[in-house]
Amino acid sequence: MLRVFEAFSGVGAQCMALRNLEKEYKVVATCDIDESATLAYYHTHANNKKSNKKYNDNKKKEFIINRGIGNKSRIMKMNSETLETLFNAVDVCNNLGDITKLEVKDIPDHDLFTYSFPCQDISSVGTQKGLDIGSGTRSSLLWECKKIIENKKPKYLLLENVKNLTTGKNKKNFNDWLTYLEKQGYTNYWKIFDAKDYGIPQRRPRVIVVSKYGTCHTNLIKNNELKVKKNINDIIDFNEKGWKKFTPKSEIKGNVKEGCYAFLDDRDWKRNGVMISKVCSTQRAGRTGLKLIKNENGQLFERKLNALECCRLMGYNDSDYYNMKKGKLSDGQIMKICGNSIVVNVLMNVFQNIYEEEAI
Ligand SMILES: C[S@@+](CC[C@H](N)C(=O)[O-])C[C@H]1O[C@@H](n2cnc3c(N)ncnc32)[C@H](O)[C@@H]1O
Repeated sequence: MLRVFEAFSGVGAQCMALRNLEKEYKVVATCDIDESATLAYYHTHANNKKSNKKYNDNKKKEFIINRGIGNKSRIMKMNSETLETLFNAVDVCNNLGDITKLEVKDIPDHDLFTYSFPCQDISSVGTQKGLDIGSGTRSSLLWECKKIIENKKPKYLLLENVKNLTTGKNKKNFNDWLTYLEKQGYTNYWKIFDAKDYGIPQRRPRVIVVSKYGTCHTNLIKNNELKVKKNINDIIDFNEKGWKKFTPKSEIKGNVKEGCYAFLDDRDWKRNGVMISKVCSTQRAGRTGLKLIKNENGQLFERKLNALECCRLMGYNDSDYYNMKKGKLSDGQIMKICGNSIVVNVLMNVFQNIYEEEAI
């Protein structure tokens, strides 16, 4: 049984991939500080399991706040029902909370450590503040992973982040990190994966680094790129209404044939025009400009992507979306979670290869 510590866990795309591949695994710990991500993880992975701890409300609040999860003043005012759900989410998924406060004694033994650390300071559309050690940027949380790797020496490590990590001013930190892992005894393999080549019509180039403790004689990242398997018609929620007449803000790049649908990115980036394509632009937390467009009898109509469609574009199962909704997450929260996450099909491809090569 593969024991997994899913750090910067979000909704847990890594474990969704293992689940979809029907692998035997056990999540021994997660860590995230965001309340909605904590709830999303619980509702998609924990099947409503309840904590065994018999705590009163004050003790529950203390437990969550001490781990640095959520907003303290919000938690202090929480009603018992909401608090109970958040407490179950933190305890059942063993969300260890803020990685900067994490103590080595609290980290369980595990075989796979996944660390898709925040990208805001690295991404081409982010702050560009970088990830220098000690800089205090969110992306520099990468270096907090050292205490886990040095003390627990998990057999496998899986890093995911934006492609920009490997280029420009971030390249030095990326290379330093790989060298650090080598010194710790790991063999590294890395590659840029774009979701559009792995069965999902979304452009989402991301770097993945797989590291194995000890020497390794097989390539743990294969170049077996698949062509898009799901197309736009597999993503669309045909029950969604709210289409309105499309009035282009500027020149249109691309087209949509009569009776067909396409993705629309109407931001007119760099005055290049609005984009119509069969492949969606990258979903990001906070981006709302991604839309669908259809041609009905020669007339163009547009509408925003809904949260179910955003989940499908991340390779989540529809049941993951419905479980988050049952857990009372709003569509806005779900879309933010999607924007921060990893396309599950890419991870399935990566894990499948590791399983084949390593006979785990
Ligand atoms: C890029 S997202 C990871 C998404 C995730 N892999 C998934 O499958 O959805 C980074 C996550 O790191 C979390 N995070 C930010 N600061 C953190 C901290 N100090 N400790 C732990 N998690 C943190 C964010 O809340 C966010 O969910």
